[in-house]
Amino acid sequence: MHPMSLHATAEALVAPGKGILAADESLPTMEKRLSRIGVESTEQVRRRYRDLLLSTPGLAEHVSGVILFDETIRQHDTSGTPFPQVLADAGIIPGIKVDAGTRPLAGFPDEVVTEGLDGLRLRLAEYAALGARFAKWRAVIRIGAALPTPGCIAANAHALARYAALAQEAGLVPIVEPEVLMDGNHSLPTCASVTATVLRTVYDELARHRVVLDATLLKPNMVLPGASSHETVDDDEIAARTLAVLRDTVPASVPGIVFLSGGQTPEQATARLDALNRRAPQPWQLSFSYGRALQAPVLDAWAGQEQNVEAAQQALLERAWLNGAARHGRYRT
Ligand code: 13P
Repeated sequence: MHPMSLHATAEALVAPGKGILAADESLPTMEKRLSRIGVESTEQVRRRYRDLLLSTPGLAEHVSGVILFDETIRQHDTSGTPFPQVLADAGIIPGIKVDAGTRPLAGFPDEVVTEGLDGLRLRLAEYAALGARFAKWRAVIRIGAALPTPGCIAANAHALARYAALAQEAGLVPIVEPEVLMDGNHSLPTCASVTATVLRTVYDELARHRVVLDATLLKPNMVLPGASSHETVDDDEIAARTLAVLRDTVPASVPGIVFLSGGQTPEQATARLDALNRRAPQPWQLSFSYGRALQAPVLDAWAGQEQNVEAAQQALLERAWLNGAARHGRYRT
């Protein structure tokens, strides 16, 4: 596929007022999310829940794309239409998580590396045939007393670059996700310096692997104090610190930055996206690719009950609408 159409897809994913719904929870993560609302995670329950999300009327108004999981991209809605087709029919771009999750990095206690490169070329071709137009790979970096190590950052950046090159070869826009976790008692400046180091290493590797940056999106963490640091920082300070790091490290040819929510509450994730966009224009669109921050209220409203489907879809539309407003810096007007 010509890189131009990949660029157009990347731009469509960060169209004004829109962002991405991450609905690509792996089986263990989905089990965790469902057990919180007292629902057993069976294939049929997961299908029903994803059907609820993907068939929400009006979702396309503020959702440009949805990231699916391997199981979900093969499932159908109640009338038998494959989920990628359900999305395409609604004007939403189907995407797919293609990493195989994290494993301990040998020789590096408490650090992980994301697996999934073996056989990835074939899997990407299959996902493209199933209708996916973009992909996601998440690397996880932990901050600790002597962490992260340069070895862990390098291993994860290398894997992200190998993945991104393969995704572009297969005609899919790669979302490059190096997540610096908010777990820990580190300070805001520590998160800023670790995030900057990680992003520098990632863009170095992407260049080495000849990845075309204008056909990629970056999915980073916001720069935040550690969740157990008890440091309170206002949203504008978070936006300023986050943008300072991104402006220092992310090339202007990247069309968009789609933040993960990473354990922030839905309200925090929206308010901070709003604060970021109040500092627009920036070289890239500043958007969202939220999982928990879009879905937590949906799961609560649904509670596994068929009679709650409409209320759950309303909860999704409301969060999407609020994040759509935050895309314009108009969440709090
Ligand atoms: P959260 O927004 O819940 O962090 O999930 C986004 C995501 O896709 C992580 O890979």
